[in-house]
Amino acid sequence: MTTPKVTVVGAGFVGAGVAQRLLEKGLANVVLTDIIDGMPQGKALDMMESAPIEGFKTTIVGTNSYEETENSDLVVITAGLARKPGMSRDDLQTKNAEIVGGIVTEVVKRSPKSILLMVTNPLDVMCYLAYKKSGFDSRRVIGMAGVLDSARYAYFLSLELKIPPARVEAVVLGGHGDLMVPAPEFTKANGKPITQLLSKEKIEAINQRTRDGGAEIVNLLKTGSAYYAPSSSAVAMAEAILKDTGRVFPCCVYLSGEYGIRDTYCGVPVRLGKQGVQEVIELKLSPESQDVLKRSADHIRAQITKLKL
Ligand code: NAI
Ligand code: 2OP
Repeated sequence: MTTPKVTVVGAGFVGAGVAQRLLEKGLANVVLTDIIDGMPQGKALDMMESAPIEGFKTTIVGTNSYEETENSDLVVITAGLARKPGMSRDDLQTKNAEIVGGIVTEVVKRSPKSILLMVTNPLDVMCYLAYKKSGFDSRRVIGMAGVLDSARYAYFLSLELKIPPARVEAVVLGGHGDLMVPAPEFTKANGKPITQLLSKEKIEAINQRTRDGGAEIVNLLKTGSAYYAPSSSAVAMAEAILKDTGRVFPCCVYLSGEYGIRDTYCGVPVRLGKQGVQEVIELKLSPESQDVLKRSADHIRAQITKLKL
């Protein structure tokens, strides 16, 4: 089997992390591109110099152009501004829309059959923008957020329950913002619903920490935002797509009536494979979760309207 080709646009903290994890897992040959002269080249060379130690056979090329990105199977877009303390993800919208719009035009010209995996914030809005700009079938434009938000939820629950994080199966739906929807009714620890293990108040406190999970890291770092768990999340999705596993992840996808939501991007569980979104899984949410999901989708749609696409 030929090794897949993945372009990572934006060689900052998240982009470089995605590239490193793709290489070390042997998932793809990588093209890492950024506007900063020498930076992607330097990071790519540094990563290749780790190959004799780590033993990976995949390769990476750093560049400031798009020529090398031709015929990529997957393009991960991480370019743009990151959050600073006091900034919401929505505050990034105008500038990042300009950046992402330009990038999508360049990458789809050269990789018309690729899948776009969006990371740049505000995530849900950037997904919609990339869908419109690319002209791709919506199943081939997918955003990363739910995997990260669910991982944070799982970790916080594991701390409370004093069990290993891997024993928690957490589900977070909705937009990647203040209206994200942790779904305790579908979240299990040691195979049991957390609603049977923790009080309503405790669960709500953990839900809130999850909604604030990105800001908690921004406040600690003071410059920039999270990147270890974000790069891990994006690569988990990339693996499912490149290996056509059909694994289910909460992802930001285009909805056309599922969950009663239409013509917007929003986070729901989907099956991922080499065509992108294979299936949207419709969970029967509690009335409270369904209500917040609907409000989250309405907020995303209102933000999209501001782009005047
Ligand atoms: P960063 O500042 O470290 O990296 C961004 C990179 O994009 C920089 O190297 C910059 O030079 C590059 N860039 C800017 N304009 C470009 C262009 N036109 N073409 C190519 N490269 C360009 O930021 P970081 O931490 O890597 O975050 C990247 C984005 O990902 C931010 O918008 C951040 O909010 C978002 N993010 C989203 C997450 C999610 O769950 N969806 C999680 C973590 C970050
Ligand atoms: C996060 O949740 C900033 O969206 C980014 O960490």
